[in-house]
Amino acid sequence: MPQYILALDQGTTSSRAILFDKRGRIVAQAQKEFTQIFPRPGWVEHDPLEIWSTQAGVAAEATVKAGQNGKSIAAIGITNQRETVVVWNRKTGKPIYNAIVWQDRRTAEYCDQLRAEGREDLIRNKTGLLLDAYFSASKVKWILDNVRGARRKAAAGELAFGTVDSWLIWNFTQGELHVTDVTNASRTMLFNIHTLQWDEELLGLFDIPRSMLPEVRQSSEVYGETKTTVFASKIPIAGIAGDQQAALFGQLCTSPGMVKNTYGTGCFMLMNTGPEPKASSNNLLTTVAWQRNGQVEYALEGSIFMAGAVVQWLRDNLGIIKTSAEVEQLAKQVNSTGGVCFVPAFAGLGAPYWDPYARAAIFGMSRATTAAHIARAALESIAFQTMDVLEAMKVDSGLPIAELRVDGGAAANKLLMQFQADVLDTKVIRPRITETTALGAAYLAGLAVGYWQNLEELQALGQSDTLFSPNASQPGIRESIENWHHAVQALRVWSH
Ligand code: G3P
Repeated sequence: MPQYILALDQGTTSSRAILFDKRGRIVAQAQKEFTQIFPRPGWVEHDPLEIWSTQAGVAAEATVKAGQNGKSIAAIGITNQRETVVVWNRKTGKPIYNAIVWQDRRTAEYCDQLRAEGREDLIRNKTGLLLDAYFSASKVKWILDNVRGARRKAAAGELAFGTVDSWLIWNFTQGELHVTDVTNASRTMLFNIHTLQWDEELLGLFDIPRSMLPEVRQSSEVYGETKTTVFASKIPIAGIAGDQQAALFGQLCTSPGMVKNTYGTGCFMLMNTGPEPKASSNNLLTTVAWQRNGQVEYALEGSIFMAGAVVQWLRDNLGIIKTSAEVEQLAKQVNSTGGVCFVPAFAGLGAPYWDPYARAAIFGMSRATTAAHIARAALESIAFQTMDVLEAMKVDSGLPIAELRVDGGAAANKLLMQFQADVLDTKVIRPRITETTALGAAYLAGLAVGYWQNLEELQALGQSDTLFSPNASQPGIRESIENWHHAVQALRVWSH
């Protein structure tokens, strides 16, 4: 009987399941969107039971689609939206509040208060993170402070906290396992990335009892077996990683200096920096890439808030395209932006600027400017923002960068990928299977159970990647990079 690896990708807007075969090919997949809950402006929640039911549902669906009943699954790998917080009752297994999602800003003021108290350096030195409401700690504290009886129950050891991976595994094992992995732990703001332990001082600062926390394990090892009736037989759960780290692994960025960029609504760019964490002086995060065979590797991470979302803005707000895919055709109608430069700081600027007050602007328009010039400038802005983060990574890591590996929706856009290679003056490589997040989780699980033996075997899977070679002699490239930097500067002056 053929054997497969089942990857479960619990993302921000949908739960997905993909079965991979030994050659890393997709055998079957299923996906289900779930409800986004916005109780107030700036608040974002999910129903943890819906996260679980959609994830269990797609796992069963993908398995059935492949004509399997679970017996042929060698292992499960789990990857998930990071930082999102679930708190549940250990006895009943019921959540005491909705999941508070990474995008939720309700604790921003509390984080400002911690900043005013001078806690930023402590947090940064221990966790590698910027003091921000994005991460889990302030969200867990909010639940304990705002759900009636929660503090008392937490102090009595009755409550469990977990990121989404922990929550899913708790359910897949019917409460037998309360675990997470180092990558997810590193996004909670409660985990010391140097000692790889929960940090007592930070737990004290956020007033979170130690007894709520999951056990932290490696990213690739057998944690236990499923107990649910979702599958006809028990399956080992053998891989866990936050989705961006899983994508880094799925892209096989396994040596220092290797970088992946995922072009989604925003961009998440991660660089493998090897066995030592590298501190950033350019607003990048220092985070755990994974831990396998007892060895930990670290990454630098930079986020860009608006990437695919810029194209959505052209579609929904300007109405100059009907579908996102049309942007490439429109932008191709002209061979330059005609001096137009678009800085899409609709939601502030991410790394390396980290400026929440910046707002978007389009510079350099003339009477000759058309929708095509604006579409082209919008695409270029995605590449320029990526360039800025990559430059910061080079400086912070001190490592040369030989290539950029890409995935996510907008990686399908040839014009953008070629322009990306040109502005970086670096090769851009797009893998044949762009489901790198799920693939990374599958690889981590498959390696743990011996389905694949080692990295060399994975590298030899020989996927036919698409290569975009830089053409730095492209006329006007240097000038357009300069224009971009001027525009960013001007916009920041205007916004403050
Ligand atoms: O840090 C948040 C990130 O993990 C979410 O990723 O793909 O679920 O939006 P995604």
